[in-house]
Amino acid sequence: MHFGQERFQTPMPKTKKSKLSGKEYVLAPQPRVQRKADSSEGDYYPTPPWALLALLAVEEFQGNVWEPACGEGYLSLTLRSRGMKVHSSDLFGRGYGTAGVDFTSYREHADQGQKLADNIITNPPYLEDLPAEFMKIGHSVTRNKLALLMRLAVLEGQERYHDVYTKIPPSRVWIFSKRLTMVKNRVIHPGDKVPEGEKKKAGTVAYAWFIWDHKSPDVKRFDFIPPAICNQVMAESKAITQLVESRRDRLSSLRMAA
Ligand SMILES: C[S@@+](CC[C@H](N)C(=O)[O-])C[C@H]1O[C@@H](n2cnc3c(N)ncnc32)[C@H](O)[C@@H]1O
Repeated sequence: MHFGQERFQTPMPKTKKSKLSGKEYVLAPQPRVQRKADSSEGDYYPTPPWALLALLAVEEFQGNVWEPACGEGYLSLTLRSRGMKVHSSDLFGRGYGTAGVDFTSYREHADQGQKLADNIITNPPYLEDLPAEFMKIGHSVTRNKLALLMRLAVLEGQERYHDVYTKIPPSRVWIFSKRLTMVKNRVIHPGDKVPEGEKKKAGTVAYAWFIWDHKSPDVKRFDFIPPAICNQVMAESKAITQLVESRRDRLSSLRMAA
């Protein structure tokens, strides 16, 4: 795992020639590892940075961090802005971190009890059984803490109860008192216009940070992240979002120019 300086990647875009017009078209980023999730582009719901900034106000992380489903780097950049050492990867290439890395491929490391990072912090994909996989593998390969931003409803479920929570119950669950809204492919902040097509769903899901703390594994509790903490970090969150968006624009102009 490499926790040094990360640079935004600008991979060469793939192109395809139209049989009709003869024109070259730039293709959307393709996954390097095929799996069922491909059909929905890897379930990309980026995290508004304030959700992590608020967590950092109540939960301390010591040592390096692996963001194994980094998307465009919203969480990684937030952690870096706080001076933390971060390694970022994702199954899909979105112009940040190392692409083509399937987190579930670390199951073997987990089974062998190999530690790969001090902490893992991510908002994992929600498709299929991926939340359970991120919990089980993430728990085994970390030395200090595993922090996953997930739907509160992930606490439910008989299979997860037997397969995960009876074996590795979370040490803490941080509930957002302020509603966190996540929409597909982009970040929105409170007061922003919700994109068409997301209006019905937006704001209907409750999210929470689930923490597994290896230093105090037996403490099971839930707590609230007060709205004031979220409001305090909103300006910082918007600044980080702007940074990611301007890098995305730069990447897409490079693709267009290629
Ligand atoms: C809900 S999005 C969150 C992105 C980012 N963590 C954030 O908070 O902004 C989930 C991410 O998981 C990635 N992903 C999906 N399946 C994966 C897998 N098996 N291994 C690693 N990443 C995966 C998707 O490409 C997507 O970027």
